[in-house]
Amino acid sequence: MAGRLFGLGVGPGDPELITLKALRHLREAPVVAYFAARSRKGNALTTVEGHLPPSKALLPLIYPVTTEKLPAPFCYETAMRDFYDDSARAVAAELEAGRDVAVICEGDPLFFGSFMYLHDRLAERYATEVVPGVCSMLACAAVAGTPLVYRNQTLTVLSGVLPAEDLRRQLAGAEAAVVMKLGTNFAKVRGVIAELGLLDRARYVERATMAEQRTLPLDGIDPATVPYFAMILVPGPRWEA
Ligand SMILES: C[S@@+](CC[C@H](N)C(=O)[O-])C[C@H]1O[C@@H](n2cnc3c(N)ncnc32)[C@H](O)[C@@H]1O
Repeated sequence: MAGRLFGLGVGPGDPELITLKALRHLREAPVVAYFAARSRKGNALTTVEGHLPPSKALLPLIYPVTTEKLPAPFCYETAMRDFYDDSARAVAAELEAGRDVAVICEGDPLFFGSFMYLHDRLAERYATEVVPGVCSMLACAAVAGTPLVYRNQTLTVLSGVLPAEDLRRQLAGAEAAVVMKLGTNFAKVRGVIAELGLLDRARYVERATMAEQRTLPLDGIDPATVPYFAMILVPGPRWEA
């Protein structure tokens, strides 16, 4: 009988923010798969390694590239499509051998998570269960100490990779917003936020719930220091109940 595929949300970084259910499946699964950049452990594995015995079988899925801006003739979409096909084949080989595979995912597995691409390729062929995790934008709101959306407000979630004109259009119409995937996109995103007069409302949070977390006003940040694991929150206007 084939093994089962689990997508386990392990939360935003603090190992205590994993759910009891994810922890149970993590401990029970004979194989733990994780995504990471070359020569790195990745945030998901770093988060859960204290929960794993040294004997646990690990299946690393190593990204071929970590930036969407590649020089011609390289194509990010093609490289990633091939990578996810290969990753799905590696996971399927374990499942075919009858072993359950727990794919650990930073934050929540189905919210901008690489697990989604395994799910797209495997969930119809193998018994699959997804365990939701604490999403990074909620961890950032907690760390910044700010409510995100009041009452009937709408929250817009954006990727900082978007061109400035798209960010401007979306943010101009947003009541509350989150801009993820900062890193080298930070200066562009901050420029748009400044143009729209939102600097006072916006909050920057980096590596929320991890040991090195930082939260700062936007104008005090050196763009060269902004990591990928950072985001900007534009909380909805306070509703005076
Ligand atoms: C590929 S998405 C993964 C989102 C994740 N699946 C979740 O549910 O939060 C990566 C982006 O999430 C945000 N992020 C993830 N963890 C974070 C953290 N601990 N602190 C701040 N931002 C974080 C950053 O904006 C980063 O660029």
